[in-house]
Amino acid sequence: MNETYIKAIEQAAEFLKGKGMDHPEIGLILGSGLGELADEAEDAVEVPYEDIPGFPVSTVEGHAGKLVYGTLGDRKVIAMQGRFHFYEGYTFNEVTFPVRVMKALGVSSLMVTNAAGGVNESFTPGDLMIITDHINMTGDNPLLGPNDATFGPRFTDMSQAYDRGYQETIEKVAKENDISIQKGVYLGLTGPTYETPAEVRMVRILGGDAVGMSTVPEVIVARHAGLKVAGISCITNYAAGMQESLNHDEVVEVTTRVKDSFKTLVKRVITEL
Ligand code: 6GU
Repeated sequence: MNETYIKAIEQAAEFLKGKGMDHPEIGLILGSGLGELADEAEDAVEVPYEDIPGFPVSTVEGHAGKLVYGTLGDRKVIAMQGRFHFYEGYTFNEVTFPVRVMKALGVSSLMVTNAAGGVNESFTPGDLMIITDHINMTGDNPLLGPNDATFGPRFTDMSQAYDRGYQETIEKVAKENDISIQKGVYLGLTGPTYETPAEVRMVRILGGDAVGMSTVPEVIVARHAGLKVAGISCITNYAAGMQESLNHDEVVEVTTRVKDSFKTLVKRVITEL
């Protein structure tokens, strides 16, 4: 982390405080097709990413996204409606910039969500999965380089990357609401290609239950910053080799189908974090 980067975090946080995003308790990252939940925030303040000083600049048309601050499940949340992906060409420092800003605004917890491919044979498209742990196979790490001790330790403990108590909370809330839930390890790759059948076998051998192109860098930075993390994947499809072929439309179609139970689950979990 260099001084320019640290200044940019502080400036973005000051700017957002000025917009009224002053006391968030929980950060929320909404994955592909799961962004609608932010629309349910009450007394919402919204700021498009392109208006926030220091935020990564989106190159893809109509795909930028915004920060939404408001009350959700009786808690003050700051939600990312749309995230930055490594495969879009952003560095991990850029991908995780919003997490650092959320921390600067005062959040103590982060809830991450994503769309992921199912690798565990017992999963079915449409399943929701409590992320119990992750495997970083991106070949990169957002904490590489000089460490600023005011942000976190040089060597970050990842032994409970996804808080055990939060995992239990998600499981309990799912049960109470008759939402069936799986548990598993998320293995993060860079994308943008989906995996080959041989890579899917590799993921399985390595211990991955689901595979995706996000989440890992944000969780690393959250843990560095001392935030407690909860994670939920939406299994949108079987990974390659387990079905005929794969395309993004299918990912969108499945998130659309499960988004009501997803929204109920996340909102009720937030209340109990
Ligand atoms: Cl099959 N792979 C990856 N890497 N990401 C995904 C996916 C598969 N399905 C949804 N997201």
